[in-house]
Amino acid sequence: MNQYYSFHTLMSSSSFWDSVNILITKPNVINKRLWGCKLIFKCYCKPINPNWKLPLKCSLFDCDRTDSDSYKMDLLKELGVVLCTDFGIKACKNLSILLLELLPKSYTSHRAYQVICINKYEESVTFYNVTPVEVNQNICPEFTFILQLKNNYIILKSICDSASKSYQWLLNSVLPQFVKWGEKSSNDSKRQHICTESLALVPEDEYYKKYNTLKLKYGKEMVKIWPECTDPSKFVYEDVAIATYILLLWENIQNAHSNKPTFVDLGCGNGLLVYILTSEGYYGVGIDVRKRQIWDMYTNNIKLEERTIVPSDSNLFPNTNWIIGNHSDELTPWIPVIAARSSYKCLTE
Ligand SMILES: C[S@@+](CC[C@H](N)C(=O)[O-])C[C@H]1O[C@@H](n2cnc3c(N)ncnc32)[C@H](O)[C@@H]1O
Repeated sequence: MNQYYSFHTLMSSSSFWDSVNILITKPNVINKRLWGCKLIFKCYCKPINPNWKLPLKCSLFDCDRTDSDSYKMDLLKELGVVLCTDFGIKACKNLSILLLELLPKSYTSHRAYQVICINKYEESVTFYNVTPVEVNQNICPEFTFILQLKNNYIILKSICDSASKSYQWLLNSVLPQFVKWGEKSSNDSKRQHICTESLALVPEDEYYKKYNTLKLKYGKEMVKIWPECTDPSKFVYEDVAIATYILLLWENIQNAHSNKPTFVDLGCGNGLLVYILTSEGYYGVGIDVRKRQIWDMYTNNIKLEERTIVPSDSNLFPNTNWIIGNHSDELTPWIPVIAARSSYKCLTE
């Protein structure tokens, strides 16, 4: 039942590792069932004996355990490796073992767990599914698969039936995209890298938890009663995502002595962001040149004003901490100006 497929490529070794890095750190880019992932541990290792070979399978992870250390030690033994702690020796970085928690996009799906072995000696990366069987995960291949760069070929080896849907996905979606990333990274290698990370200011796992909570709390209901002619699933979930980010940012900057941040949302449109932020306990106002039908459905504590903001001294907000403008049309370039003119304590989002 072993599948073997090879694909010719001019990808360099460093580009291969760039592609592996995307596959491991941002699996959601290629796997639409995922929201993202969380690294539970990563350790550098060395083989116990010179004829070392990885097993085809490894023990499943008990996802209820709070301490992953005992699993790690058992796992390393099973994989035939020991911890390598002498980081002065470059060879120590040639073999690493990771345990990843894969976070599903749909809150009705279950999380999955993957052990990944990065083997720089053989330029290969092995993915084991270690999710307990009873969890019944459907977000990553249920079998072991390996990607390797060898003699200008990318090789995909999988321990599964060729008719398996996951195998077809690996072959027809993951492999071509993996090669594309690598070839793009070869072309980009001379260009300067700039930081384009989103969610850079809040911890990703906290974001994931809060986003799912708010999605359940506001998303479903809102999508059901949406009175506007716009697509609710786009607007509602986008605003839930923005609210999640802002709320975490505010929670993280607040301390016992500071007051709760206040906000003004300029060009607030349907006012949903104002509704969520207010319902979560923050005081603020949304302003838009055009009132929407949905405004009448909110309770009285949701402050929305229909008026035009003309950037000038008469439209400043000296008592507000945050000026929000999400795609606020022609107001967009004025948001930081309005914030700076309002008060030195005013920030923008
Ligand atoms: C692209 S929509 C974005 C709406 C909302 N922020 C969102 O993310 O869904 C831009 C909004 O800005 C409002 N707008 C544009 N110029 C404005 C101004 N000078 N004063 C108040 N609202 C304005 C428009 O009416 C529109 O609702």
